Amino acid sequence: MKDHLIIFDTTLRDGEQSPGASMTKEEKVRIARQLERMQVDIIEAGFPAASNGDFNAVKAVANAIKGSTVCGLARATREDINRAGEALKNANSARIHTFIATSPIHMEKKLRMSPDQVLKQAVDSVKWARQFTDNVEFSPEDAGRTNIDFLCRVLEAVIKAGATTLNIPDTVGYTMPEQFGGLIHTLYERIPNSDKVIFSVHCHNDLGLAVANSLSAVLNGARQVECTINGLGERAGNASLEEIVMAVRTRQDLFPCDTRIDATHIVPASKLISGITGFPVQPNKAIVGANAFAHEAGIHQDGVLKHRETYEIMRAEDVGWGANKLSLGKHSGRNAFRNRLADLGIELESEEVLNTTFMRFKELADKKHDIFDEDLHALVSDEALTLQEHYKLLSLTAHSETGETPYANIVIAEEGKELHAKSDGSGPVDATFRAIEKILSSGADLQLYSVNNITSGTDSQGEVTVRLQKSGRIVNGHGADTDIVVASAKAYLSALNKLHSKLERAHPQV
Ligand code: KIV
Ligand code: ZN
Repeated sequence: MKDHLIIFDTTLRDGEQSPGASMTKEEKVRIARQLERMQVDIIEAGFPAASNGDFNAVKAVANAIKGSTVCGLARATREDINRAGEALKNANSARIHTFIATSPIHMEKKLRMSPDQVLKQAVDSVKWARQFTDNVEFSPEDAGRTNIDFLCRVLEAVIKAGATTLNIPDTVGYTMPEQFGGLIHTLYERIPNSDKVIFSVHCHNDLGLAVANSLSAVLNGARQVECTINGLGERAGNASLEEIVMAVRTRQDLFPCDTRIDATHIVPASKLISGITGFPVQPNKAIVGANAFAHEAGIHQDGVLKHRETYEIMRAEDVGWGANKLSLGKHSGRNAFRNRLADLGIELESEEVLNTTFMRFKELADKKHDIFDEDLHALVSDEALTLQEHYKLLSLTAHSETGETPYANIVIAEEGKELHAKSDGSGPVDATFRAIEKILSSGADLQLYSVNNITSGTDSQGEVTVRLQKSGRIVNGHGADTDIVVASAKAYLSALNKLHSKLERAHPQV
């Protein structure tokens, strides 16, 4: 019998810490349902003490998910742990993850605490967390740069205090695979009560080694890996879930363990997260990149045609690549629509929202013959954004003609007031954004504009992401439409709506 390797997904927490990747409560619940379908063991849903929005999102995920454990992050303070305990109280299975930094540089320069104070706070916090759940994870932040003797002292003490999982973070992505694997081995050997807990690892990708370091740790006894879909996460990101899962599965000759992940849900999960966050997946990204299974060189194509395994170590369909799934068409009724959404794990808030989304589906089906699952995801995201709108797009005319200066005429509603503007620009999208700025004068700085077709074909919906920055805040806005200029206007307004909502959140590491 092989050991079970626990997959702890932190897309909704560390992934969300990527600048601009913040997610709404509804988006988090949709992603969590996809992770549950994939059979992720533990979903870290957020950092409840960060803001009321984060608290509510963790609570909503805890209420919705039954097949995975839901985890909330808390700094090693009673206040943070109380918030996490409260947010998770209805979870079928809950975990509290508490952490404090243990490296000399973090203790001295950031926390301004002595090692003994840090040790005491770690122990107190684990004990405190145990009153909410008997599933408590402790992380010594920046373990990769922590003195080994001190690390062993802290870990031994928190096991005695009741921690059940010890997570070893390489917070700044500093370690090398052999070194990190060696660290896990040493901890097992040196900590007297190490057999009472599961060792976990949490690696960042600053030197591109997050997956390699995690796998090296698994070969040295770690039985939980913290990772994210598409490797999303703070700075250069975290270890990517799809790479960890498929490396362990493909090299069963080397690994003494396997995961319970249903890998056929990986590609849909990757697309969902990339659509929601607006972070595109690079084409050559392992497993989920568009070219990951494409053979260009003639000699490769020839080999694959003769015998697939000449050039393929995994099968595309095993990780969820397949033709876009035809979902619904123009004649589909309300029930078929509702059932398909349920199959995709999408639950709409009320009958009223179902009705308006269904109307939008019919409008889309008039413009586009075949509706795919990806279209439905985009439609629901669009509808959710519309419901939170302070600025609403009422109408748009964009004109472009060879030899003429493009222009756009736009009408926006702000709290019931209609606002009109016309502007020219270097192209219809530029003219549209200028017209919006003429009305709203946001002064925000455009950091990213990207268009992706949701499915293939020129009748596909275009999904636009706009990233804006203002006064240190970075937000992503999304919009989808068969007309990419309209999708662009929706995305720009969606970003402005997010800036307008001014929700402030604390950062867990500060
Ligand atoms: O990178 C890190 O150290 C973290 C901890 C909170 C586990 O994200
Ligand atoms: Zn992290």
